Amino acid sequence: MQIPTVARKAPAPAKPNGDLLSLPTLGRERLLQLLASARSLKRDLSPYRHSLAGKTVILLFEQPSLRTRLTFEIGVQRLGGIAVYVDHSSSRIGQRESVYDMGKNLERMVDCVVARVFHHNTLEELAAATRVPVINGLSDRFHPCQALADALTILEQSGVAPENGHTGQKVAYVGDGNNVAHSLMHAAAMIGFDLTVITPEAFRPAADVVADAQRLAAGTGATIALSNDPAGVAGHHFVYTDVWVSMAQQEQLERRRKRFSAYQVNPGLMAKAAPNARFLHCLPAHRGLEVTDDVIDSAASVVYDQAENRMHVQNALLLHLLANQHPG
Ligand code: CP
Ligand code: NVA
Repeated sequence: MQIPTVARKAPAPAKPNGDLLSLPTLGRERLLQLLASARSLKRDLSPYRHSLAGKTVILLFEQPSLRTRLTFEIGVQRLGGIAVYVDHSSSRIGQRESVYDMGKNLERMVDCVVARVFHHNTLEELAAATRVPVINGLSDRFHPCQALADALTILEQSGVAPENGHTGQKVAYVGDGNNVAHSLMHAAAMIGFDLTVITPEAFRPAADVVADAQRLAAGTGATIALSNDPAGVAGHHFVYTDVWVSMAQQEQLERRRKRFSAYQVNPGLMAKAAPNARFLHCLPAHRGLEVTDDVIDSAASVVYDQAENRMHVQNALLLHLLANQHPG
């Protein structure tokens, strides 16, 4: 008996607006469009409250979260969709079954995957396997949703318009050259902020990310500079820091605490920046380590604006990727 050959199904149609694993794939025009949409949604979301009706977004998280989880869960609901949170912290994605099989299952059930992973290549595999958009909710390499919120906050605080290239704003990132720093470098280069990344020598951002950011910066006239001197914050309008020990590095706390002590953002360091410089932090903060209470609780601190802005930029992103809608 001859076994009939089964015709292979035609490949799934490509996702029209792609994934968001890191900012450069968006391109400058779409990045600015997303920020404009986020501003519009922040003013009034009501015209879009049914835009995601019938759509389901899964949040698949290998690491804990407050802001990313809640802003996506609440944002999806405000846009009329359904969000389902899956705590994947007890095992790595790809351990029980392949990442590919997980992606092939998920695309039959949901319209979008937001994943928080230890290894960025898990996201790349997942995105390659599914015909639904995959959004990076933080990986070891990048945190693009955070950088979108950071950019919106910097634009709000400075009042500059990014359309014409270089904005004249100078941002100093002080601390660990990590996932948050990497995505901030992309955002600064693409939008047109000068960024100085100030880290201990051994904790510089990854060389390939620096090279990418410097290439992107050529298009906007932005400067992406590296330094190991905390006094390099001089003249900067924004001072940004993140934890010295990321979630995936908890065992390095003692070693890192000593290496980073000169990089604490305290009133002395803020005084070296431009007059009226603002303080930024993606949160969660380790108060007393990378930042002191008297800075994070000061009038210069805009950290809770950043947290709120996560919701607005992600709503714009969801409308773009899932409904091809562009408010504003
Ligand atoms: N900034 C940020 O991503 O916060 P969570 O880890 O709480 O999601
Ligand atoms: N760099 C931090 C960011 C948390 C939002 C981490 O990866 O834990």
